[in-house]
Amino acid sequence: MTTQDFIGKENFTIHTQTVTESCPSNIALIKYWGKYAGQIPANPSISYTLNHCKTNTSMEFTANEPFSVRTFLAGNEEVKFAEKIEKYFRNIEQYLPWILKGKYIIRTENTFPHSSGIASSASGFGAIAKCLMALDASFTEKTSEEESLRKASFLARLGSGSACRSLYNGLVVWGKTDEVAESSDLFGVQYPDAEIHEVFKNFNDWVLLIHEGQKSVSSTVGHGLMNTNPYAERRFREARENFVPMKEILKNGDMESFIKLVEHEALTLHAMMMMSDPAFILMKTGTLEVINKIWDFRRETGLPLFFTLDAGANVHLLFPCNGSEEQMKAFIEAELLQHTQKNGVVKDVMRF
Ligand code: DP6
Repeated sequence: MTTQDFIGKENFTIHTQTVTESCPSNIALIKYWGKYAGQIPANPSISYTLNHCKTNTSMEFTANEPFSVRTFLAGNEEVKFAEKIEKYFRNIEQYLPWILKGKYIIRTENTFPHSSGIASSASGFGAIAKCLMALDASFTEKTSEEESLRKASFLARLGSGSACRSLYNGLVVWGKTDEVAESSDLFGVQYPDAEIHEVFKNFNDWVLLIHEGQKSVSSTVGHGLMNTNPYAERRFREARENFVPMKEILKNGDMESFIKLVEHEALTLHAMMMMSDPAFILMKTGTLEVINKIWDFRRETGLPLFFTLDAGANVHLLFPCNGSEEQMKAFIEAELLQHTQKNGVVKDVMRF
C-alpha cells in the first residue's frame, strides 16, 4: 500500500457530533529511534501493547464553524497541546478532507499519572486517530473495520510514530521488514498470533517511576540527532537484523535469548543518545542501580526478570506471568522500589 491509498474521498456529509475512544500505550522491544521525512522510520520496530495504561478521549465536533481546536487534559485546558493538534489536523487534511470544516473540543484523560514519564503521545495520538475515524465513518461511505483501523494507525503515525503500534493488541510491528509479511513503514501490523509462543502472550510490565516530570530532551529532538550520529547507519542495520533472531525467539519461546535481545535494544537506544552531538543522558542514578540489581538477581536466582527502557529514566520491568512470579514481585517490592521517587510503580500486563 502507498500513501495514495489513504487519500480521503471528497463526497462527505458532516454534522455536529461527539465521539469517545480509548487507546492503550505500548512499549517497544526493538526500538524506533531515527526517522526520515514524513514520519518514515529509519528501521522497523516491534512493541507490546499494554492493557491498563490508556488514554480516554472525547472529541466534540461542531460542524460548519471556523476551524479551531481546544484541548483539556484531565479537565485542565492545554493551549500548547491544542496548537500541536491544530497543526496536526492541517497536516492530515488530504486524508480526511472534512477535517478543517468545524471546531473541536477534545478532552483527554490518562489512566496513568500524568507526570509519570510514561509516554502519553502513543496512547494520546492513538485515541485521537480513532476519534477521527469514528467521525469519518459517520460522514462518509462505510469502510470495513479492518480498513478503518489501518487508516487510524496511518493517521496516528503522522501524530507520533510509535502511536501507530498502539492501535492493535499484542505484539505489533511498524516498519517494513522481510521478516514480517504485510509490514509497512506507513502503519502498524499485528504480529501473527500463530508465530508467538504461549510464554510471550501473558507478560507483566511494571513501570518503575524513577524520575517523574519533564524529560530534558524530547523524543522528536532525539530522533533528529540521529541524522548526525556517526553510529546511526550501523544502528539502523542492527535493528533490521535483530528481527531475524526475534522471529525465531518468539516462535520457540527462548526466554534467555529474548531477555538478552530486549535488554540490548534498550541499552543501545540510550547509547545512541550518549553518542549524539550534543550528547544527552536520560537515565538517572536510580535507573543504573535498578539495572545492576536486576542482573545480580538473575545471576543468583536464574529467574526471568529483565528490563527495557523508553526514552526516559523509568525502568519497565518485564517478567512472564507463569504462576511462579511471587519471588520476582517480592524482590521488586523489597529491592527496586526504593530507587523510585515516591514508591511509584505502575503495574501493567500484556495478555492476548
Ligand atoms: C524510544 O514515537 O515518541 O519510545 O515520532 O517523534 O513522536 P515521534 O517519536 P516517538 O518515539 C518513540 C521512541 C521510543 C522507541 C519506540 O517506541 O519504538
